[in-house]
Amino acid sequence: MDKYNFNTVALHGGQEMDGHVRSRAVPIYQTTSYGFESIDHAAALFQMQEEGYIYSRNANPTNRVFEERMAELEGGVDAYAVSSGQSALSIALLTLAKVGDEIVTTNALYGGTYSLFADTFKRFGITVRFVDGRNLSELENAINDKTKAIFTETLGNPGLEIADLSKLSEIAHKHGLPLVVDSTFTTPYLIRPFEFGADIVIHSTTKFIGGHGTSIGGIIVDSGNFPWDNGNFPEFTEVLPALNNRSYMELASKSPFIAKARFDLGQNLGTALSPFHGWLFIQGLESLPFRMKQHVENAQQIAEFLSAHEQVAWVNYPTLKDDPQYELAKNYLPLGAGSIFTFGVKGGLEAAKRFIQSVKLLSHVTNIGDAKTLVIHPASTTHARLSPEEQALTGVNPEQIRISVGLEDVEDLKRDIDQALIASKEGALQSVKA
Ligand SMILES: Cc1ncc(COP(=O)(O)O)c(C=O)c1O
Repeated sequence: MDKYNFNTVALHGGQEMDGHVRSRAVPIYQTTSYGFESIDHAAALFQMQEEGYIYSRNANPTNRVFEERMAELEGGVDAYAVSSGQSALSIALLTLAKVGDEIVTTNALYGGTYSLFADTFKRFGITVRFVDGRNLSELENAINDKTKAIFTETLGNPGLEIADLSKLSEIAHKHGLPLVVDSTFTTPYLIRPFEFGADIVIHSTTKFIGGHGTSIGGIIVDSGNFPWDNGNFPEFTEVLPALNNRSYMELASKSPFIAKARFDLGQNLGTALSPFHGWLFIQGLESLPFRMKQHVENAQQIAEFLSAHEQVAWVNYPTLKDDPQYELAKNYLPLGAGSIFTFGVKGGLEAAKRFIQSVKLLSHVTNIGDAKTLVIHPASTTHARLSPEEQALTGVNPEQIRISVGLEDVEDLKRDIDQALIASKEGALQSVKA
């Protein structure tokens, strides 16, 4: 197979034109099931003696194109698409850790991930240890003989803490553990975590990958580099009757991790992605490089505009020249630090609320990575279930506004932000209404 560059893979990866009608676009295989050729064929598929499609809860040809394209874009060996970013996180981490096991995670996390770890996993008997991702000795000290994975987001949601992936993967590998990375904020266009030693990448494809705010989905990608037979993961080497008396390592030498995620938890918990959504994500991938380039350009301009605005107290965007993470951003994110960032309006919490109530072109919704520009107040929404202390740990504070900069004409965005900032001044809304 020829090796193509990123933009070409985004358009062609994973697709072979079908021999029958030679559809140029990837067809939507909107089917639950696939006809068996014979009773023996059905038995061979069920006993995993032959590869093939059985039922769309575990695999579907449209989703397979999406999976293979994502694996290629990330530089991995295989991928598994599921129904949401949350299910990608759950399936990936529960494939590694079971009752009694532990996970070490950096603090700077999406609120839903924090709740999954602190509440749900806890109820399932899995302890998640939260550490400051910038304090590497704290992180290493949290590892013990029950630890099964190190977890981080590439850019913490919403505080934008940049994960030092090379150092995190070095520590993980020293202890025989995989580094699992949520790269939702960055996509493979901005960073390919496997190049920095990560082992598993997950995305909420709901965001930039779908790109148009239409569909919920997630994906798990395997680098193919982790040695699952290192003694820490017996579930990958034990022989199972369900696998026709083989282990996951024997069944799928390319990616035992993805095989286990798909045929164990994915199949049994039922977190399948709809083929139509898989198809929409393929459409998203085809324009991903162009959208990401523009997202980043618009975000940089909006961040600079906000920094210079008299109603803005602070802006947290790593590629602003005086940002404390500027050097780290240049190293890990040379094409840009995404288009989602936070800022504080002068006047604190009340001014932040007035700003949100005053935007007209910007949409007040809970999503990110849409083609349209979105704003939200994290402390009262995405991170509302967290205590003030937990909010501070995850990088959230009361006057903070999160913006996901879209693809509109940037001058129109500036005009709307400017009028909303003016309206955020104390008394401004009342006098407008009067
Ligand atoms: C970084 C990150 N990971 C995971 C998720 C969960 O994704 P989904 O909403 O697709 O379940 C989100 C959602 O906002 C997110 O921001």
